[in-house]
Amino acid sequence: MRQSSLVVVANRLPLDDNAAPDGACEWRRSPGGLASALHAILQQTPATWIGWNGGIDSAPVLPDVGTLRIRPVSLSSEELQGYYEGFANSTLWPLYHDAVEQPVFDRGWWETYRAVNQRFAEAAAELAEPGAAIWIQDYHLQLVPQLLRELRPDVLIGFFLHVPFPPPELFMQLPRRAELLRGMLGADLVGFQRPQAAHNVAQLAVKLFGAEATDDQITLDGRTVRTGAFPVSIDVTEMQALASRPDIVEHAEQLRADLGQPRRVLLSVDRLDYTKGIEHRLTAYSELLRDGRVKVRDTVMVQVAVPSRERVDSYRVLRDRIEGEVGRINGEYGRVGEPAIHYLNQSFDRADLAALYQTADLMVVTPLRDGMNLVAKEYVAARSDNSGALVLSEFAGAAAEFEDAFLVNPHDVDGLKETLLQAMDADPADLQRRMAAMRDQLQRHDILAWARTYLTALDHTGRLAAGLRR
Ligand code: G6P
Repeated sequence: MRQSSLVVVANRLPLDDNAAPDGACEWRRSPGGLASALHAILQQTPATWIGWNGGIDSAPVLPDVGTLRIRPVSLSSEELQGYYEGFANSTLWPLYHDAVEQPVFDRGWWETYRAVNQRFAEAAAELAEPGAAIWIQDYHLQLVPQLLRELRPDVLIGFFLHVPFPPPELFMQLPRRAELLRGMLGADLVGFQRPQAAHNVAQLAVKLFGAEATDDQITLDGRTVRTGAFPVSIDVTEMQALASRPDIVEHAEQLRADLGQPRRVLLSVDRLDYTKGIEHRLTAYSELLRDGRVKVRDTVMVQVAVPSRERVDSYRVLRDRIEGEVGRINGEYGRVGEPAIHYLNQSFDRADLAALYQTADLMVVTPLRDGMNLVAKEYVAARSDNSGALVLSEFAGAAAEFEDAFLVNPHDVDGLKETLLQAMDADPADLQRRMAAMRDQLQRHDILAWARTYLTALDHTGRLAAGLRR
């Protein structure tokens, strides 16, 4: 077994098993921000990525991606249910996102979550060379840092949480709160998107373990864990290059023509998830249509809702609600050949997304809670002529970096309507100024800067970050 000096452990591999229309198996980039972010920088690093391939039972042998070795972990259908759909996505996901959907506390899921975390820890222990660094990602694997420390006390252990860490009063609802917190604190460095998360964890460590804690370090059982904020980003160069490719520019023009050359195109791109505030946005938009403040012929809205976690009940229910609402809005306000909302429940590849971003005059990103939201960053990266407006929820991590976006509280439907109108009618010079400022911020904080900053904090010698290239 070849070992690596850097091992990344994430629930998902960067590639996903996908059946092509002819039934053949093909690979595509996994959904969501985590896979996109890490995929961009690790392809040229002699590292190993351990993760689930998206299927059941089989763990096929997968080819390397550039210099990155891929090591799949298999999940049985019971494990998929108890660990991924259950504890990770029906308990932790809603709880960590402000409980915008009621978290389910099912006692049967915990053992499976623990056992799958143990399997990931064992795979990482086997594939890490002596003194290696192991970088664990996200809420699915919160026990891995501690489990790994027991197996391999010689390695450096990093943990990064891509989603928000909730306020202590919410976290305290978790039946297994102490084990989960201790699991994460098995790392040498725990990274979050926002400083508030590190503050929440420090408070909990004091409350649950009587630890000595500040917002940047926690001492527990005689060992000190460092914590801090490392806001994740995107491959800005890749998105910029895509958006300026002649075929994509042409595709964007074609899309606009297909949409009927409207005066304005509003775009939203989300995984179909209840944290994304899709319904709030639809309500605001339909009221603007109802009040005659937006006209269908003039303005079109495109909603891309990428299928996600479709076997989890709350996601199925949400899909039905959204599709019912889109149907209602189109039924009431659309015309023949002119729907009010173009709704697409599909995945799009990077090139198609780049074309959509080019087409959109307004990007509307309204999550009720979001760790970062990389779609907002992708839109900004795609707007090289500084045109376009970003309407962004205050509750997305990205809002802390994009002060020049049109910031909104998506719960306030009237406020959301006003902000949409304000962004639609903004002076082009103001839009240019805002976009230039956001682009400047983004250029300085791309995915490479994120990984370098995190890995240098994990290992001060800089040896881990040295291997990273775009
Ligand atoms: C979020 C999570 C990621 C996850 C992604 C897609 O971005 O932070 O860990 O991979 O959603 O969700 P999925 O359940 O399809 O992996």
